[in-house]
Amino acid sequence: MAPAYPERFYAAAAYVGFGGSTVSSARAISRFQNDVALLLYALYQQATIGPCTVPEPSAWNPAEHSKWTSWHGLGKMAFAEAMRLFVKILEEEDPAWYSKAPEYIVEPTTGMEMHKPKLCLTTPNGNSSPKPNTISTEIGDMSETQDKDITMEGLGSVTMYDQWVAPPLSGQRPKPRYQHGSALLQEKMYIFGGNYNGRYLNDLQVLDLKTLTWSKVVAKSTSDSGESTVSMPVAPCSGHSLITWRSRILSVAGHTKNPSATVTVKEFDPQTCMWSNIETQGKAPVSRGGQSATLVGTRLVMFGGENAKRSLLNDLHILDLETMTWNEVDYIGTPPSPRSDHAAACHAERYLLIFGGASHAMCFNDLHVLDLKSMEWSRPKQHGVTPASRAGHAGVTVGENWFIVGGGNNKSGVSETLLLNMSTFTWSVVTTVQGRVPLASEGLSLVFASFTGEDVIISFGGYNGHYSNEVYVLKQSCKSNAQTRIVDGPDSITTSRAVEPEIETAQEGKVREIMMDNVDPLPANVRNVETSEKLVSALKVGNEELRATITREQFEMVHLKQELADAESRNANLTKELQSVRGQLAAEQSRCFKLEVDVAELRQKLQTMDTLQKELELLQRQKAAAEQAALNAERRQGSRGVWGWLAGTPPDKSDS
Ligand SMILES: *[C@@H]1O[C@H](CO)[C@@H](O)[C@H](O)[C@H]1NC(C)=O
Ligand SMILES: *[C@@H]1O[C@H](CO)[C@@H](O)[C@H](O)[C@H]1NC(C)=O
Ligand SMILES: *[C@@H]1O[C@H](CO)[C@@H](O)[C@H](O)[C@H]1NC(C)=O
Repeated sequence: MAPAYPERFYAAAAYVGFGGSTVSSARAISRFQNDVALLLYALYQQATIGPCTVPEPSAWNPAEHSKWTSWHGLGKMAFAEAMRLFVKILEEEDPAWYSKAPEYIVEPTTGMEMHKPKLCLTTPNGNSSPKPNTISTEIGDMSETQDKDITMEGLGSVTMYDQWVAPPLSGQRPKPRYQHGSALLQEKMYIFGGNYNGRYLNDLQVLDLKTLTWSKVVAKSTSDSGESTVSMPVAPCSGHSLITWRSRILSVAGHTKNPSATVTVKEFDPQTCMWSNIETQGKAPVSRGGQSATLVGTRLVMFGGENAKRSLLNDLHILDLETMTWNEVDYIGTPPSPRSDHAAACHAERYLLIFGGASHAMCFNDLHVLDLKSMEWSRPKQHGVTPASRAGHAGVTVGENWFIVGGGNNKSGVSETLLLNMSTFTWSVVTTVQGRVPLASEGLSLVFASFTGEDVIISFGGYNGHYSNEVYVLKQSCKSNAQTRIVDGPDSITTSRAVEPEIETAQEGKVREIMMDNVDPLPANVRNVETSEKLVSALKVGNEELRATITREQFEMVHLKQELADAESRNANLTKELQSVRGQLAAEQSRCFKLEVDVAELRQKLQTMDTLQKELELLQRQKAAAEQAALNAERRQGSRGVWGWLAGTPPDKSDS
């Protein structure tokens, strides 16, 4: 689970029965085992309130006390981590919760339709002009304009540069997902695995970039078990690295349901459609997901990630792909702090760059360089815009340019497509997407393809509260074009800023529309002064109407805000109600607990009585035996010889 997005947490909390949702509390937390429920409660408190500072309740209230203990036990755990754990635990308990409960998903009030990204798209036939104000073309009617010719043209139909475009695709779309792997091989983009609704996937999907057609690969998998080779499905995974190596695709590391001790390397051969496990030499690193694996010549450099015990790593391992031998490498300097979901790139076959990623508590925007010759880590001096912190972003290198797309932080998805000139460490913004499109999400993948003289970056999937299975392409222009888009100043890149242009553009669009409405009805051939005056006054009227419209819209906005406030207040009331119900429930639980204690005490007493009874019986038996013995002794004394003879015992020697 990636660190960012609070949305999923709130959806999960609503599903469980916490938070301001209208979910009936019957569905709520009681469904879970008591210890899970307590942990979910504690994590919810930690994520929404913070560390427990309330005084310890009296032990007479065991329900409240165990809740307090559970919460208090989380110590200073960060909000983000608590959110993450909450979702993770829910997903373990109830893997399909997300699809089971769409009504619980609280959409942020953007009014934006997820599957209809508003901006940054163009129609596939390219008859929209490349002026900035036309980029608001909706994708809605795309299916109508899609015909065979366009599809056959493939990426040729994309005529815009340095803008993300959703090209028309055919074939069966893969399942939405994130934290999958993607790799380019022979003008095909392969997608493997990933995570959908907290479940790991193991399907292999191919997008033919020439025909823009999706298809699913029915891949066989073999596993050597001694002499015989058995066919079995390849293990579902997410957060792995997919790398094209010669004519094959390697899948390295990744989270799996039953993690192995060390990192596994699998290989897919498109010739035979077979997955096979590769036996590696050397000391394989501990298994993990969310690492980076960067191809440098014939070596794969793996950095960081998160192991199966949720520890974050910052170790460095190199897999020699010729010999399939792992080497742990020593370095000098300070490596990046332990992290996962960062991005890595190789520059000039010599430098490994690491950017961003996340710990359990926070997202990073730091840039580190490892010189693979001297094996020294350093922090380069950077220029240009300051990139926002992020994790789960994707990167792809094109020459000395490193493109970085998406990712998320504790605020939202990151909407900028960044470019780092790796020679000069200069950051710039290539383009900014608007709204909650899959490009501004985490766990998306990128590949770079260059054919018929065009450089194209292709993105797939991602998660921003919703799972995506969409494909976007960005045709890269020459560098001069990219540089004209450089935005200076650190502020220009923050996400809060990025939202503004959308509103402005929308208003501008409205203004233009209204103007056109007022101008159009007038005859085109008016020449005389009279009509000219009419025109002027019409325009004035138009202006007034425009102003009125704006005012109306402002009113509407205020109204909407009021409605929102009301809804929030209702929400708060419901939360209160829920809390009171929960309080009652806790009281009942407490009563129940007390009764249990009483019963236990009684049982204890009963047991004690039982024991006493037994002891008494024993004593009585002992007493009886003693009495009998005394009696016997008496009798023996009285008639020794006869009794001894009768019993067949030899006469007592001491007496003879
Ligand atoms: C997000 O994280 C940054 C540091 O990473 C922190 O300064 C900021 O307060 C956080 N914001 C929220 C809303 O948690
Ligand atoms: C990177 O910056 C250097 C120096 O400004 C420039 O010469 C080079 O062309 C840039 N590289 C790219 C790919 O834009
Ligand atoms: C919420 O409760 C308060 C008092 O408890 C009440 O005044 C207010 O009207 C309620 N709001 C709604 C929306 O029900």
